[in-house]
Amino acid sequence: QTLVNKGKIHLFRNLLKSTPSSCKCLLVRKHSDGAQRFVSFDEVVAQRRAEARRSIVVQVNSEASFNELYGYCSKYATIAGVHHYKNTGGEHFMLIEFSSEDNLKEIIKSCSTHQKDLDVMALNSPFLWFRAASGKKEVFKTPSMTLSSMDGCSMVDEDELFQELLKCDTVSDQIQLLYDRTKLNDLGIRLRYMVARQVECVFESLYANIAVRPFGSSVNGFGKMGCDLDLVLTNTLTEEMSSAHKRLVFQDKRCEGGRSPRQRHMESVAELLELRVPGAARLQRILHARVPIVKFAHDYTDLDCDLCYNNMSGVHMSSLLWSLGGLDARVRPLTFAVRRWAQAAALTNPHPGRWITNFPLTLMVLFFLQNTPGGCVLPTVKTLVQRAGKEDVRIAEENLNCTFLRDMNKLPPECYSQNKANLQTLLLQFFEFYSQFNFQDKAISINEGTAIRKPNSLPLYVVNPLEQALNVSRNVSYEECERLKLEVRNAAWQLEAGLEGQKNDDWGVLGLVERKTTRGLKKLLRVGNSHRLVSVKDLFNDTEESVSKETLKNKLE
Ligand code: GTP
Ligand code: MG
Repeated sequence: QTLVNKGKIHLFRNLLKSTPSSCKCLLVRKHSDGAQRFVSFDEVVAQRRAEARRSIVVQVNSEASFNELYGYCSKYATIAGVHHYKNTGGEHFMLIEFSSEDNLKEIIKSCSTHQKDLDVMALNSPFLWFRAASGKKEVFKTPSMTLSSMDGCSMVDEDELFQELLKCDTVSDQIQLLYDRTKLNDLGIRLRYMVARQVECVFESLYANIAVRPFGSSVNGFGKMGCDLDLVLTNTLTEEMSSAHKRLVFQDKRCEGGRSPRQRHMESVAELLELRVPGAARLQRILHARVPIVKFAHDYTDLDCDLCYNNMSGVHMSSLLWSLGGLDARVRPLTFAVRRWAQAAALTNPHPGRWITNFPLTLMVLFFLQNTPGGCVLPTVKTLVQRAGKEDVRIAEENLNCTFLRDMNKLPPECYSQNKANLQTLLLQFFEFYSQFNFQDKAISINEGTAIRKPNSLPLYVVNPLEQALNVSRNVSYEECERLKLEVRNAAWQLEAGLEGQKNDDWGVLGLVERKTTRGLKKLLRVGNSHRLVSVKDLFNDTEESVSKETLKNKLE
């Protein structure tokens, strides 16, 4: 919670960083008898979507606008919470959640359009701005709640994070801290659902029963601050809508012409995003891919978005990863450490190419956790499929069967968390496991939970859990796979060696999660400045890699 007082905001921000975000309570809820209860993906999504339907994002002058904005909106509706954030452009925004969707409708009715200009066509969207009062200023009484101020879009300060990691007592603490400090926070999740809602609002009148849903790391529990926003647009018919008993049927419009209907729809979606969605900018159309996507940046939230059409299997995959990640408290921190290590070792890369991506890497961690010595941490997907009931049946596009147990409370306790090792042990065992893995002949399948025979000679084979005939790492080249094998061996060696010695700057996971180039430079910086880690970015307004040792020495001198 933050005081609307400039001096104190920073202090409170730091305090907030160290407290668990409110989304944590969404992961596991307690029964009245104190027993643990898993919250399903569908429950969380329903809650988040409802939250977005009763929220708006308002651009303001600064945090100091809080009283006025709160007072103004309270005239129309009951406010449930206000969250403040700044985007990288330094613009201030407040996400306001109202008590109900009816409340939001009242607010939307009270809004005006900027100007009567032929170039600007009026549009109702949950992204607004707060105009300065004209004439005599209204006096509003002090809000009955405090403003919550969080970094909704920006990533954590790396230097601060490394200082904190340095001070941890154990490697397990380091892994946990890395997770707590870098995972997507409550506001980050809210903003992602707000962008989905905004796009949904714009397309609602064009497509029947439309939904725009986030999927991927924004919602599967493995997202870090700043991760991209994967969106899927669906307009599936409900059973009622397609009932054969109804005599009056809508005339429909067939998509004619040579190109696939999917591509043509995506073209018009891109056009509308460009024309009608405030904040959406820098559009890229990737329409010839197997799954055509439209990429865009959302300037009010600093999000990089990928929108695709009718790809519900992506949402079901998110549900599967959410369920497995929530079963044991060690799964997500361990995965974060591995993803961070892979990024530092340049095994993953933000641009698509011949390297491994976070998704197959996450499956590799889950697979390892099905194979931990002394008992599994996670069940196989086969177990979840076997235990699925009628309520779990989901058929995605192209008749893809995505049925598996959704409610993890129905899973017998002996199916998971049998191994009790700490995070440090698990991380070391992960590297050792893949140091010895037979990549040459075997494929990784979280469906089976054991290595299976590779059906072809692709260098890395990670079975797609929802479409087992497919390899989600088919793009990985022989060289990149060799590098992965080398880096897991190096990491195992480095982590093991680091456990025995003194706690130096590379202590524990530090040596694994800091980029090698940055690490070398930081060491140099510490010469003659042993008490304080200096940020390379403090010295140069340039990318860290582009700084040569010579330049650095000169600068230091
Ligand atoms: P980051 O964006 O890197 O944080 O992780 P992510 O899990 O969101 O990965 P990405 O944005 O690359 O992909 C989004 C989602 O699409 C994933 O979570 C998967 O559900 C799905 N996905 C990614 N790659 C594949 C693939 O090769 N095959 C299939 N079937 N689905 C994929
Ligand atoms: Mg993603």
